[in-house]
Amino acid sequence: MAESVSREKLQELHAAARQAAENAYVPYSGFRVGAALLTAGGTVFCGANVENRSYGATICAERSALCAAVSAGARDFQALAVCTPDAGYPVPPCGICRQVISEFLPPEAPVVYGNSWENAVFSSVSALYPEDSLRELAKH
Ligand code: THU
Repeated sequence: MAESVSREKLQELHAAARQAAENAYVPYSGFRVGAALLTAGGTVFCGANVENRSYGATICAERSALCAAVSAGARDFQALAVCTPDAGYPVPPCGICRQVISEFLPPEAPVVYGNSWENAVFSSVSALYPEDSLRELAKH
């Protein structure tokens, strides 16, 4: 069972996601997204969306952060924050990202998303991805 993450920690994580959004490569949509992952050891890994002129090759901020973290050897994640500063409302992770998030974060892990901290939504992996049809194939 993952340790519970304090509101203060989540706020810091969301601030890191906001900062990460500054590095978004978004010449096509102009829609910046930043994501920040907290590991069990307290390390924070960030990612931004990286678009491509093929459109389909675009990588969302959430998967960008997960790939950076997993590539660095991290496996144990406690929480995820997503910041969409260009939206006027909180934007949750897309469907593909929910699948990938469910590969690495436990169902009870908090996921906080918002265009700003003031109107952030507090959710969880299981709330965002309640019916995992491939659960029996998971190696974790
Ligand atoms: N995007 C993300 O980075 N994360 C999401 O969960 C939603 C969508 C990106 C993909 C694309 O670069 C832009 O936002 C517009 O869809």
